[in-house]
Amino acid sequence: MATKPPVAVVTGAGRGIGRGIALGLAKANFDVAVNFAHNAEAAAETCDEISRLGRHAMPVRADIADADDRAQLIAETENRLGPVTLLVNNAGIAPEVRADVLESTEESFDRLVRTNLKGPYFLTQIVATKMIEWQRAGLVREPKIVFITSVSAFAPSVNRGDYCISKAGLAMAAKVFAARLAGDGIGVYEVQPGVIQTDMTEKVRERYDKLILEGNLLPIKRWGQPEDVAHAVVAIAEGRFSYSTGITIVVDGGFHLRVL
Ligand SMILES: NC(=O)c1ccc[n+]([C@@H]2O[C@H](COP(=O)([O-])OP(=O)(O)OC[C@H]3O[C@@H](n4cnc5c(N)ncnc54)[C@H](O)[C@@H]3O)[C@@H](O)[C@H]2O)c1
Repeated sequence: MATKPPVAVVTGAGRGIGRGIALGLAKANFDVAVNFAHNAEAAAETCDEISRLGRHAMPVRADIADADDRAQLIAETENRLGPVTLLVNNAGIAPEVRADVLESTEESFDRLVRTNLKGPYFLTQIVATKMIEWQRAGLVREPKIVFITSVSAFAPSVNRGDYCISKAGLAMAAKVFAARLAGDGIGVYEVQPGVIQTDMTEKVRERYDKLILEGNLLPIKRWGQPEDVAHAVVAIAEGRFSYSTGITIVVDGGFHLRVL
């Protein structure tokens, strides 16, 4: 009898990096729950692409900033695809306005922290608790959790402090869960993208084109692509880092290098 493929949940997988990760995982033989908040059409397109790769995919509407939605996302995935072997906390937002840290609003701060930090933190709490049970029952093997953070976790931008703080907090969440879950056989990883070409960076496309192609922002002089991030997540999913829980895999074209 053929063994059932493992199941992954990818949050915010309708477009951008999340879609790239979902497709990468499908190619690596995962069935995928494609979470989206608003754009059902984009999520359906991701699912169609996954189906063409011969894997099962299911769109699940859930706002990860909402506690009831988080619980429902995992319940629906378990009911329709099966117990979850891999959670990828990808969904995230940028501030609506890039405002100087002396002028930015509490509303923007709360929105960013709720979506980028509190959402994945408590979604991980739900999934990790279930993974422990599923693993004990022999329903999943070597489950894993990935947090997509950002180089903004360490590099300050003075016009989006709220974003940077949410990502710095998320980087610590990855470490806290890694330490807590190692004894339960669950690997937890941070993947830290640099500047990736998606709708999120569309507004700053021209400025970054100049910085990347003509400047010294990146030692590797090209935009990162969703596939670059997906490659790191797939390597984790395939168990290539099973003795390395808590690590940060940097996917940034060398942005982190300080060159003299
Ligand atoms: N693009 C970059 O340069 C870059 C760099 C570093 C990190 N990141 C991070 O990577 C992740 C993906 O970014 P992207 O560039 O693909 O952005 P994107 O805006 O293209 O895609 C983000 C996806 O998340 C979804 N989403 C937003 N809020 C949600 C919510 N509350 N519930 C469920 N889904 C929600 C969006 O609908 C969208 O589909 C984000 O966490 C982002 O912070 C992006």
